[in-house]
Formats: sequence, C-alpha cells, structure tokens
Amino acid sequence: MARIIGGYFTSHVPAIGGAIVRGDQEEPYWKPFFDGFPPVREWLEAERPDVAVCFYNDHGLNFFLDKMPTFAVGAAHEYRNEDEGWGLPLFKSFAGHPDLSWHIIEQLVGDEFDVTTCQSMLVDHALSIPFELAYPDAQEWPLKLVPIAINTVQYPLPSAKRCLALGQAVHRALASWQGAEKIVVIGTGGLSHQLDGERAGFVNPDYDRFCMDSLAANPEAICVDSTKEIVRKSGSQGVEILNWIAARGALGAAPARETHRNYHIPISNTAAATMLLETA
Ligand code: DHB
Ligand code: FE
Repeated sequence: MARIIGGYFTSHVPAIGGAIVRGDQEEPYWKPFFDGFPPVREWLEAERPDVAVCFYNDHGLNFFLDKMPTFAVGAAHEYRNEDEGWGLPLFKSFAGHPDLSWHIIEQLVGDEFDVTTCQSMLVDHALSIPFELAYPDAQEWPLKLVPIAINTVQYPLPSAKRCLALGQAVHRALASWQGAEKIVVIGTGGLSHQLDGERAGFVNPDYDRFCMDSLAANPEAICVDSTKEIVRKSGSQGVEILNWIAARGALGAAPARETHRNYHIPISNTAAATMLLETA
C-alpha cells in the first residue's frame, strides 16, 4: 500500500533561484528564509519518499492566458524546467510516474473533477525552486513527480473550497493506489504578495498567520472566503495559497501534525513561509 508521509509547503519566489545559484544562502538578506529548510531536508532524508505530488501554479510557461485550465494533472514521462522570463538558469528535469498520474486522473474524473490531462508539460520556478530548496545537493531528483497545476492567475479562479475538495479527491486516489511508494505532498506559492497595480508590495502578516494556524487542523476556515476576498486579504498573487489548501486536502482527514514553521518578510515582494506537516 502506498503511504502518504506528510507534506511541505513553501513560497516559490523566482529570486530564491538566483540566490541558490549565487550561493547566497548565508547572506543576511537570505539567511532567515533558507534557515527554514534544514528541518524539511532532515525529514525527507529520514523518510526518503519515492514520489512527490506537487500542487503549484504555472506562470505563463506551460499555459498562457489564451489557454488556461482550472486544474491540470501531468501524466508525462519527463517534466523539463524552463525559465518563463526571470533570467534563471535551467534546473534539473523531473522523471514522471505516468501510471500513478493516470490512476489519479481516472479517480478524479470519476469523482467529477474534469481535469486537463498533460502528457507533455514544462514546469516553471514554482515547481523547481521548492525541490532545489528541499534537495540542495541532489545530482538528480531522488523521487518521481506528479505535478498538479491550479489556475491562480487568470480569472475566474477556482474557489478555495473547490481546491480543498480537489486535494481530498487526490487523497482518495492515492489511498486506492496499489503501489508500495512513499508519497510526499507539496504545496507551493504565497504567502501574501502582490506584484502589480496600486497595491504592489502589499503583504498581510495577520492573514498569513491565520492561514498557517489553520492549515493543519482547520483548513476549512481559510475556505470560508471567496477568491476575491482572499485576494483582498493576501494580494493578487497571495491567492497562490489555493495550492497550499489543495495540498493540505491531499494529506487526508486524519490529523496532520505541524512539526515546523518558518516565516520571513520580505523575500522580493513576498511574505515567505515554509511549513512541514506530518501524517505518518
Ligand atoms: C514573486 C513571487 C511569486 O510568487 C512569483 O511567482 C514571482 C515573483 C516575487 O515576490 O518577486
Ligand atoms: Fe508565484
């Protein structure tokens, strides 16, 4: 039986990729953020998961505004990273797990989530950077990937309630998978930030704390708000919290223990956070 060991959640600001490439982890600007990762690394080192199911949002690399699926599940053999315009170097490619992807897709569609299936898929900074943070010394990724992209970019966005339900349906699919893999769930993006418009630079530590405090035991509390209200509280890109909510759903209904949290403002324009929830 496959086993879900838990999940980690992290911001995915592109500038983090630049800091990794330059080796700036100990610089005063970056240290408070990178200091959030050793507990995640130690946990992964001890648990050695075989597969990552990663909820993230694409930023115009694989999907652009002309074609924008609400929910898209990767079912490719390989996922290459490309840079959608930040000047970042290319990060490592990921091996897929098409059999598990198709199992998840079949279960989701059976559950009336009409997802887009992607047999070829590029991944951007929102997926690569969280892996670079968690496996900084890896020559190749030690686990396979099932990417699930949620539209947090082009309106209308799915509701938080629907994203939690999607994650819960992914959990049911993983629970019915007959493989022996250990699975880690990942949610990327957030926390509060706004890159554009009159409120550019907006962050909201009170709302971020509410989201972090709710994630393990009461994610439904975050789902009371409409996406418009979440944007009002967390900024137009802070709505990436939808990825965290779906990832929390994929951990299942059994209690999740929060074993680590880090929060630091700012990284670029973003209130940057890292959390670890364990279920095993
Ligand atoms: C920034 C944050 C993001 O989530 C993103 O996708 C791009 C840029 C930032 O703060 O610079
Ligand atoms: Fe983003």
